[in-house]
Amino acid sequence: MNAKELRNAYVNFFKERGHAYIQSSSLIPENDPTVLFTTAGMHPLVPYLLGEKHPAGKRLVNYQKCLRTGDIDEVGDATHLTFFEMLGNWSLGDYFKEGSIQMSYDLLTEVLKIDINSLAVTAFEGNENAPKDMETYHIWKNLGFRDDQIFFYGMKDNWWGPAGQTGPCGPDTEIFYDNGQPKCSAGCGPSCRCGKYVEIWNNVFMEYNKNADGSYVPLSQKNVDTGMGLERVLAMMNGVGSPYDTELFIPVIEEIERLSGKRYADHLKEFRIIADHVRAATFILGDDMGVAPSKMDQGYVLRRLIRRSSRYMRKIGIEGCRMVSVSKIIVDNYSDVYPELERNKEFIFTNITAEEEKFNKTLDRGLRIADRMFEELGNEKVLSGELAFRLYDTFGFPIELTEELANERDVSVDIKGFEVRFKEHQDISRAGAEQKFKGGLADCSDETTKLHTATHLLNAALRQVLGTNIMQKGSNITPERLRFDFNFDRKMTPEEIRQVSDTVNDAIKAGIDIVCEEIPYEEAKRCGAIGAFDGKYEDIVKVYTIGDVSKELCGGPHVGNTNELIGFKIQKEESSAAGVRRIKAVVGQF
Ligand code: ALA
Repeated sequence: MNAKELRNAYVNFFKERGHAYIQSSSLIPENDPTVLFTTAGMHPLVPYLLGEKHPAGKRLVNYQKCLRTGDIDEVGDATHLTFFEMLGNWSLGDYFKEGSIQMSYDLLTEVLKIDINSLAVTAFEGNENAPKDMETYHIWKNLGFRDDQIFFYGMKDNWWGPAGQTGPCGPDTEIFYDNGQPKCSAGCGPSCRCGKYVEIWNNVFMEYNKNADGSYVPLSQKNVDTGMGLERVLAMMNGVGSPYDTELFIPVIEEIERLSGKRYADHLKEFRIIADHVRAATFILGDDMGVAPSKMDQGYVLRRLIRRSSRYMRKIGIEGCRMVSVSKIIVDNYSDVYPELERNKEFIFTNITAEEEKFNKTLDRGLRIADRMFEELGNEKVLSGELAFRLYDTFGFPIELTEELANERDVSVDIKGFEVRFKEHQDISRAGAEQKFKGGLADCSDETTKLHTATHLLNAALRQVLGTNIMQKGSNITPERLRFDFNFDRKMTPEEIRQVSDTVNDAIKAGIDIVCEEIPYEEAKRCGAIGAFDGKYEDIVKVYTIGDVSKELCGGPHVGNTNELIGFKIQKEESSAAGVRRIKAVVGQF
C-alpha cells in the first residue's frame, strides 16, 4: 500500500460511514495565538468541538498537515518526525466511544488487514477529573481483545489535549502495533519505549473543556477526535521499521546520497535529520500562509530547521548551498496531494537558498570559534550565556544549535544568562517561539468574538480604500487585540490609515446585524463572498454577511450587531514580510 492508497482507503472508509471529507487546513493556524503550528487534525476544528455548528455536518474525515517541534532533538532515530500527516475522523456530538472504537477496529482489521493479535490498546485509569474508563475496556473486550492486550494508564499517557493552553480535551484510547518482539521487562507495555509497541492511532473522547484556571468543565456535546500517523502506518503496512524507509522518503534519501557521495546506511542520523527538516521547511514555506525565516515565532522555527539541516549537510560532506535540490524532490513528490507546494515553489526555493547562504557565510568560522570556546572551558562544564549569545549574534547560531554542540561535548549552556543578554539587546525574544498567550480558537470570549467581527470589517475597509486586490495573508487574535496581515507593497499613508479606520467605525456606528448563512461553496463564490484563501473549503460553507459592507467565508463566531464593538482603533501599521503589511488594532471605547 502506498501513501496515496492509504489516504484514500482511510477517507473512503469513513465517507462510507457518513463522514464528510474536509480539506487539510493551513499548517499555520489562523486566528489562534496559542500555538505556532497546526499540531493535530482537531486543531482547526476547535470551535466545532466546543459546539459551533460545522457546515459539513457532525461526522468529518480528513488528512491534515501537522508539525510538532517538541521532539525535534529525537529526530534522527527511526520514528520521530517534525512534519507529519495525520489521518483523522471526528464526531461532533454524534457517535461516541462504541461507534468510534468499532469503526477503528473495522478499518484496522478489514481494510488494513492487521491481525488483532498484533494490536494492543490502552484506556484511562481515572483520576479526580474523570473516572476509570471501563466502558472503553468493555468495548475492546467485546471485540475479542484479551486482558493482556488492554492496558490502563493515567493522565500522562491516556489523556489528550488541549492543543494549546485551553480548549477541548478528554480521556483517550490509544491503539498500538505490537511488532512481536519479546517484552523488554515484566512491566513492558505500550507506554514502554523499547520499540515493541508503536502507537498508530489515538481516539480521544473529548467531553471536557480545560479553562485558563486549570479546571475541567464538561462540554455541552460529547465529541470524538481521532488521529492516525500516516507515515508510521505506512511503514507498518509495508513491513519496514521506519517512515524513512517508505516511498515518502526514499527519493529524498537517494538525493542526499547523490549530493554527499555517502551511504544512508552509514549515516542514518544525519540523513534522517536532513530529510525530515528539509521536508518540514518545504511545507512551512509552501503553505499558502507560508512564512519566511525570521527571528520570531514560526519564522524562528523555520530558521532552526534550515540551519540545523545545513549543519548536518556539512557534516556528511555536502558543500555549498544544495538544500534546494532536496526540497525540489519533496515538492515533486507531494504536489499532487498538496498543490500549494507547486504554487509556492519559487517562494520555497528562494527562501531556502537565501537562508542557507546567510548561515553558510559564517558557519565554518562560527564552528571554529565555538570549538575554541569549548576547549577554553577546561574542566568547567558550562558555557556562559555571554558566549552563547556571541555565537548567536555574530554567527547566527540558534541557541538550540549551541546547546547541541555543547551536548556533544558534555557541556551545558547557561540558558538563563543567554536570555538575559538577549533581552538586553532588545531583540525580539526567541521565547516568542514558545510564547503562549491567552485565547486562541478555544477562546470564544466576548473580546475575541468582537475582534473576529472587527477583522471582517477591517478586511472590507482595506479593500475599499486600497483596492479589491487586497487579500488576507494571516490573522491572529488574542483577547487584547487583532492582528491582520495583507498583501500590499508599501507603507500605508496616514490618510489611508485614517480612511480605513473611519470606514470601520462608520460600520460600527451604523449598528448592522450580522447574518450567518450556510450555502454551497460555489454559490458563495458567485455572490462575491471573500475567503482568506482558496482550496480549503468544503461543499457547504458558512458565510457571514454584514449588511452591504462585508461578505466573508468564516467559521465564526461573530457578534450579533456591529454596535457591540463600540469603536475601532488601529494601533500599528508595519511591514510583516516582503509585500505583506501588518495591522494591529483594538475595539472598545476610545
Ligand atoms: N488529537 C489527537 C492526537 O493528536 C487525536 O493524538
